[in-house]
Amino acid sequence: LDHQLREYYTVALEVARKAGEVIKDAFKKEKTIDTKSSAADLVTVTDQAVEKMAFAFLKEKYPSHKFIGEETTAETGEKLQLTDDPTWIIDPIDGTTNFVHSIPEVCFSLGITVNKEPIIGVVYLPVLDQMYTAQKGQGAFLNGEKLKSSGQTDLKKAVVICEGGSSRDPDIVEKKLTNIHRLVTASHGIRSYGSAAANLCRVAQGAGDAYAEYGIHIWDFVAGMLIASEAGAVVKDPSGSEVDLMSRRVLAAATPSLATQLSDLLIHLDMGRD
Ligand code: IPD
Repeated sequence: LDHQLREYYTVALEVARKAGEVIKDAFKKEKTIDTKSSAADLVTVTDQAVEKMAFAFLKEKYPSHKFIGEETTAETGEKLQLTDDPTWIIDPIDGTTNFVHSIPEVCFSLGITVNKEPIIGVVYLPVLDQMYTAQKGQGAFLNGEKLKSSGQTDLKKAVVICEGGSSRDPDIVEKKLTNIHRLVTASHGIRSYGSAAANLCRVAQGAGDAYAEYGIHIWDFVAGMLIASEAGAVVKDPSGSEVDLMSRRVLAAATPSLATQLSDLLIHLDMGRD
């Protein structure tokens, strides 16, 4: 099994580099934009092209594996099913709004699960040439350098990463603003990088102490959560229970104590299940 995982990892890096080239090239050009679940839920032809390319490449190598992709799911409208089979989970561009607005925090995110557990995570930010990687039990790395989360235990001294997200439902927006109000009041400050995957990688490297978001999907966080936890961060459901890949929400914090302080502080939005 070990050599198989090593091979998956090599292939994951290869496909991330390929995807990165396409994204980096398109980043400088004019974008063709469409919307999905809301006027702020964006997709471009590059998202679709990168996912197609990645799936074609991977399916040829691993015809018996399962594949979950953001844009394929949007196109087919099929209900997500995570099985015990090896599953390649892709967000071709996490941070599509950044991509559209020429903000360089855009990434290709690829997580592999076996028995519904993330075992490999690769998050590549091609414009910044930052390759975050993790294999279960083997630590997390940025361009080959080992990562360690901050170790912060006190919310008062923490920077917390959060997002407005893409829902424009007034009730959801209001609850998210209440959370932001509470976070600003309780901490050193908040930050938003515009990509769930990148946010988790920032926590992994200690550039920010914690991150919580409601309304994301498995493809946004499955790779980043492994990178964060392999860097020593705690990854949970925001309520404090075990993280649930289908529950559309995640919390990562440098320490268990910081995670608890955030769980106690936040309104836990129920965004439905995938
Ligand atoms: C988005 C990012 C962002 C989050 C949005 C997501 P996408 O993913 O992860 O951080 O706030 O809710 O939709 O659409 O750019 O892949």
